[in-house]
Amino acid sequence: MTTDIGYDLRHEGRRVMQQLEDGPNPVVEARQMMSQTILAHVLLGLSDAGFYEYVAGRDEFSMDKAIDSLDLDAFTFTALVEYLLGCGALVRRGDDVFGVTAKGERLFNVYTRGVLNVYLGGYQTVLKSLGEVLTTRLPLNDPALARSTRHAAAGTAYSTCAFTLPEVFAVMRGRGGRICLDLGCGTGDFLLQWVLQDPDARGVGVDMSAAALAQARDSAARWGVADRLEFHEARVGPEPLAVPPGALDQVDVVSSMYMLHELGRDGRRAIVDVVRSLRAQLPGRQLLVLEVESCEPDDFAALSPPPPHLGRLDYRLIHQLSGQGLPRTRADWHGIFDEAGCAVVEPGTPTGGSLIYVVDM
Ligand SMILES: C[S@@+](CC[C@H](N)C(=O)[O-])C[C@H]1O[C@@H](n2cnc3c(N)ncnc32)[C@H](O)[C@@H]1O
Repeated sequence: MTTDIGYDLRHEGRRVMQQLEDGPNPVVEARQMMSQTILAHVLLGLSDAGFYEYVAGRDEFSMDKAIDSLDLDAFTFTALVEYLLGCGALVRRGDDVFGVTAKGERLFNVYTRGVLNVYLGGYQTVLKSLGEVLTTRLPLNDPALARSTRHAAAGTAYSTCAFTLPEVFAVMRGRGGRICLDLGCGTGDFLLQWVLQDPDARGVGVDMSAAALAQARDSAARWGVADRLEFHEARVGPEPLAVPPGALDQVDVVSSMYMLHELGRDGRRAIVDVVRSLRAQLPGRQLLVLEVESCEPDDFAALSPPPPHLGRLDYRLIHQLSGQGLPRTRADWHGIFDEAGCAVVEPGTPTGGSLIYVVDM
């Protein structure tokens, strides 16, 4: 690689020393950025290995027993536990016994788990390959960079269970919904929570990811609600949904949680066509759509006071890099529903950084 100007390390070193004097301290900023990145990877690894489930509700744990129960690599697990001990997330209570501190409780929360699963678990393939993409050694749409849908879907469920889904369920119940068709149901956690909060509720989930659906069926069986949930592998598109005959007969509400925008990778028209096709297949039902608010970088940078985190900007970037549709404005969604022949009855109720739309089909 060549550049015109060159990169003179003596000059760059002097610049750092100058910045140290001027503040804020770039060395501390660099170290903090890296520590957060490493911590994120440690937590995602523990999430993948089942440690969140293992530690949930336990005041303390034995390292040996955790290694046995979860069938973990002892050397790596010990290294991670030591790291978390040093971070103050764990505290040693005996040679082999560790407690989770208040800081650890915050780190091991389901929302954090969700964000890590979506961004790091779901999209680390593209994030770690940006150099190759920038230098055109790999095209952005190379299959090697495809996301892990199971992580993206599970992460969405983890990060919505706290303050988004209760609001969505309130809207659905308020509109008399009971039997829900969930489009792009992923790991099925939305429908699982839906049927667990009401013994009369039922659900039909559709997704094109076989891995995510396998997890959905497994969860339904483990929670003893497999008789009220069914999952079908199918692509939501302009054609009628390819599910077994009768599967949709009793559906009275249709939900699309963070899914419709994904169809925008084929252009806005593709979303209109899908909504129109759903309307033809399920006339008279209500369609509830949950989508993240749009975010324009110039407007975002000008926000005053500045937002406490860059979540909406992160979401925008990841969707650009993974070839999905960008977050859309409320007006754009209304236009899409209108063009598909649907009447908007809930114009975009804010919940977190997302908006709930309901339309009559
Ligand atoms: C961001 S995840 C959301 C998962 C789930 N709805 C939730 O909120 O937890 C998007 C899901 O939509 C699915 N999906 C995307 N496009 C689809 C399509 N055309 N047909 C079926 N599923 C689709 C993906 O496989 C993925 O599971």
